[in-house]
Amino acid sequence: MTNMQIERQKLFDIVREGGALFRNREEAAHVKVKGVSDYVTQVDFHVQEQIRTGLMREWPQIQFMGEEKDNSDIDFTKAVWILDPVDGTTNLIHDFRQSAVSLALYDGGRPVCGVVYQPYTEELFYAAAGEGAFLNGKPIHVSGAQTMEECLISIGTAPYEHEYADRNFDLFKRIFLDCQDIRRLGSAAIDLAYVACGRIDAFFEMNLKPWDFAAGRILVEEAGGTVTDFSGNSPDFRKKGSILGSNGAIGRLLVERYMNS
Ligand code: IPD
Ligand code: CA
Ligand code: CA
Repeated sequence: MTNMQIERQKLFDIVREGGALFRNREEAAHVKVKGVSDYVTQVDFHVQEQIRTGLMREWPQIQFMGEEKDNSDIDFTKAVWILDPVDGTTNLIHDFRQSAVSLALYDGGRPVCGVVYQPYTEELFYAAAGEGAFLNGKPIHVSGAQTMEECLISIGTAPYEHEYADRNFDLFKRIFLDCQDIRRLGSAAIDLAYVACGRIDAFFEMNLKPWDFAAGRILVEEAGGTVTDFSGNSPDFRKKGSILGSNGAIGRLLVERYMNS
């Protein structure tokens, strides 16, 4: 093994060991309310702590940002891990089996690598800058769809911000009427990983947080697609914002025909 492969293997082990904690149904039943329809369970805290400890042990010089902690001291000009310990907590609570660990490394504002691990299917999506994107070690690519008629599109409902429901559902309806069908998986990280491997042609959601899309973004970009905001601009990985991941062609089409009219 080269040095790089050993490092990668360590990273995968840390993420897989975190994902193994999803099966603890007792901890998943310990639920706290964070906001409107927004929950956190004991599993979320446990996964975050375990992964944080593993990352700090192997790479103590790299900062750690995690959804379930205060991140006000992060210096984004330096290297930082960005972790969502459980992306899809509502799914986890319901044992819906569509949740993932999402972990990315950014340095100097640029993505270095990203991992999305779905423990229920044992699918590990990985991408590194300039190296491509992989699913369980095999290269993956975005779809070749060019028209709405060819598309399966995943939506995010911005479940914690009900004030946007009318606007969102109007947009979903217009897109639904023109494509093959829409999906709502309940994990933005899995949505973006599915765009990267071509299972869906596009995914979009308003107001995602950095940890929801940090890893998925690099997966999609390294798989040949694009990740933008709803105006087609590059998203700011440090802030909450609207995210549109696609194979490129469909993203451009969505921005032109649906997002801004
Ligand atoms: C949520 C999931 C969900 C999306 C929400 C996210 P969480 O993350 O990605 O699919 O609709 O906007 O906040 O709260 O389960 O980590
Ligand atoms: Ca999330
Ligand atoms: Ca989460």
